[in-house]
Amino acid sequence: MEQKREHWGSRWGFILATMGSAVGLGNIWRFSYAMGSNGGSAFLIIYLLSVILIGFPVMLIEFSIGRRGQDDAVQSFKKIAPNTYWYVAGGLGVLAAFLILSFYGIIGGWSLRYTFEYLAGGIAGDSQAFFLDFIAQPVAPIFWSLMFMGLTVVIVLLGVQKGIEKSSKWMMPILSLLVIGLAVYSLTLGGTAEAFAFMFQPEWSAFTDPDVYIAALGQAFFTLSLGMGIMLTYGSYLKPEERLTSSAAVIILLDTGFALVSGLMIFPALFAFGLDPTEGAGLVFIVLPVIFEALGGIGVFVGLLFFVLLSIAALSSSISLLEVSVAFLMDRVNMTRKGITLLLGTVIFLLGIPSSLSQGAMEITVLGSSFLDFMDLLTANVLLPSSALLSVLFVAWTWSKEDVFTHTDLDKSSMRNSFYGLSRFFAPVAITLVLGFGVFNWLF
Ligand code: PHE
Ligand code: NA
Repeated sequence: MEQKREHWGSRWGFILATMGSAVGLGNIWRFSYAMGSNGGSAFLIIYLLSVILIGFPVMLIEFSIGRRGQDDAVQSFKKIAPNTYWYVAGGLGVLAAFLILSFYGIIGGWSLRYTFEYLAGGIAGDSQAFFLDFIAQPVAPIFWSLMFMGLTVVIVLLGVQKGIEKSSKWMMPILSLLVIGLAVYSLTLGGTAEAFAFMFQPEWSAFTDPDVYIAALGQAFFTLSLGMGIMLTYGSYLKPEERLTSSAAVIILLDTGFALVSGLMIFPALFAFGLDPTEGAGLVFIVLPVIFEALGGIGVFVGLLFFVLLSIAALSSSISLLEVSVAFLMDRVNMTRKGITLLLGTVIFLLGIPSSLSQGAMEITVLGSSFLDFMDLLTANVLLPSSALLSVLFVAWTWSKEDVFTHTDLDKSSMRNSFYGLSRFFAPVAITLVLGFGVFNWLF
């Protein structure tokens, strides 16, 4: 029995949910620490180029595979190209989404914990000691990630339209205003000159470091939710008559704007207070409390609002991550949506436990990184680029030119030939090179 596929209530429902997936911890937590650890400006430039020259074509390609296949991240490939192995791209994506959620849930839990901390009066004094002490505890961070995963599961249980569209609709504008406001404040704290030098003054020697390229490309995929079947799955909920190009452009502009503004929020304050940009995964959790404390009386309230909204942004991303695996299993096992969602939520939560413990409670390292960092690097820097590479090759090299233009809605666009060139040559070659050098560098 073929089940009728659910569809988005409106084009805006689609754009908002897609933005909900894209804008999340990646823009604030991950962007700032990846940029901080990878030299600042060189990372930023390569990241922006990756977003425009690779992220945009990949997003359109994922949308078009999903809309054409009208099915989940694996089955869409099988429907479009029966008896081929292209579905491996979708499989890698589902795997990536599954693994990402395991540690995303930990960071989401940190964010919930900070929400409650601000409800209880905020964080004063040594924010670094506070953070390091919290993440090194064996139970507390796991408890908070359980809360976060619980919320994620509940929203996914409510279904595609009711759950995801509604929760994405109102948080985005408020969060963006708040981040802009905090960036303006941060720019008054006296670290602006140093922050601008760090963020925008290219240090040419950094461009020869393969680590910077792979970090920037991985961040581009992660932040745009690409290479994991999410955009593909969301595209499959589109009615065939929707237009894709402008949706992709809106989503990319907004996500990138968010990251840049959160950079302007973090780095001036960071330099003003003499903190270290290479702090790692805890960067925002250490810098933000210092900003809120500097705000004085209203700081606790602003901090509360900020972490509430960050948690919601994280949730709207985590529901998209869970949705990929749920959609994948729904069509394959004989269980209800509810059962599958609960089962996957539990398994992913359990898989997150070693990531959480690796932050100080126990020594769990792989290839020289903590388990959490390892999962992060493995997914963002290896699985996402691999899955995206296969999707690009699939569309650009196995579909006819006419099919590519029709299914990406570029048939009447003046950009179509540049898009075709990027998809056929530039993007695959660039991803392959970065992936090759990056993985080599990581392993040896
Ligand atoms: N793109 C989201 C972010 O920037 C997170 C995310 C990552 C969502 C991977 C889905 C998949 O936070
Ligand atoms: Na993002």
